[in-house]
Amino acid sequence: MIGLIVARSKNNVIGKNGKIPWRIKGEQKQFKKLTTGNVVVMGRKSYEEIGHPLPDRLNIIVSRTAVFEGENLLTASSVEEAVSLAKDKEALRRAHFTPRGEPDIYISGGYGLYKEAVFFVDKMYITEVDTVVEDGTVFFPEFDAEDFDVKTGESGGDEIRFTRTIYTRRVQQKKVGDRELTYRKLTEADLDAFIRMRISQLTEEYASEGREVPKNVDLEAALKDYYNRHLADGTFVSWLALEGERIVGTSGMSFVEKPPYFSCPSGRLGLLSSMFTDPACRRMGIAQDLLNRVVGEARDYGCGAVWITASDMGVKLYTAYGFEHNGNFMQYKI
Ligand SMILES: NC(=O)c1ccc[n+]([C@@H]2O[C@H](COP(=O)([O-])OP(=O)(O)OC[C@H]3O[C@@H](n4cnc5c(N)ncnc54)[C@H](OP(=O)(O)O)[C@@H]3O)[C@@H](O)[C@H]2O)c1
Repeated sequence: MIGLIVARSKNNVIGKNGKIPWRIKGEQKQFKKLTTGNVVVMGRKSYEEIGHPLPDRLNIIVSRTAVFEGENLLTASSVEEAVSLAKDKEALRRAHFTPRGEPDIYISGGYGLYKEAVFFVDKMYITEVDTVVEDGTVFFPEFDAEDFDVKTGESGGDEIRFTRTIYTRRVQQKKVGDRELTYRKLTEADLDAFIRMRISQLTEEYASEGREVPKNVDLEAALKDYYNRHLADGTFVSWLALEGERIVGTSGMSFVEKPPYFSCPSGRLGLLSSMFTDPACRRMGIAQDLLNRVVGEARDYGCGAVWITASDMGVKLYTAYGFEHNGNFMQYKI
């Protein structure tokens, strides 16, 4: 996932005389949470303002004039190069950076980087700071809000308040060789095709385990009822992969809530389901791309963990992504 993180004032200011023009307790917490273990890409001036690489994440500095290299530190001469460096295993080794699975990339300013990134990032985490900054020197660039779904999150702050917003690009494109894939969220209009795929996937699973599919279950109606209700209240989300008009990959994430516990103070959990890739489209990274998007949805929903009961085929994918086995996972059928 390639994202962008910024905090901007009501009049779109992000910097003033080389500094962020506000100090608000808790405002930077999201930045730390999202970027830790991942990759931050920042312009040379922003890096020099901080003065050192941010710990526990890979820092890629964009500069045409300077070179910064070291532990968790690399330099790129363009935003595009920064993104390819973040995906280059040899470069990650050089910076002694060992991510869990494929790291997310966060473009973190300033203006020159944001100006390019607004056209290609999958997500923008924009913190709207409730202040007007006079004589700002650096601004967040214009972008086409129509291209994004917007979700409003938590508010916080002290004398100056802020509100989190998440902009998710509605249609995300990817090229694999000469094939073009589109990623987008499931809508009500896709439900019939989605349900057909889900039922044939479940039927295949039964067949491969030598079990017979029960004849007296109207799964189509039950699934339709479930998806309609939970798409509407936001407790089910699915990203799809399409080649042309055809759905070639599906994913699903349901959100549930338990009484909060220490390692999950929100009590919110994501239950992963319906991961499927058309056999003709395997080995294109679709499962990983979909997984990444629905795990991102779980993060944005405030989930502390994602659970799955993986098929044998899925174990490799989930392990590579960073899922850990929970040896005691058991169930009791009612
Ligand atoms: N509010 C926020 O969320 C936020 C986030 C980040 C920064 N800021 C603020 O923004 C200000 C800094 O931003 P800024 O725009 O002035 O500087 P910047 O982007 O941090 O750094 C500018 C430098 O980065 C390099 N650069 C930028 N775009 C490039 C590109 N497309 N290709 C190659 N190199 C590129 C160039 O380095 P060389 O000159 O070495 O070639 C350029 O001089 C500060 O006030 C900072 O506090 C605010």
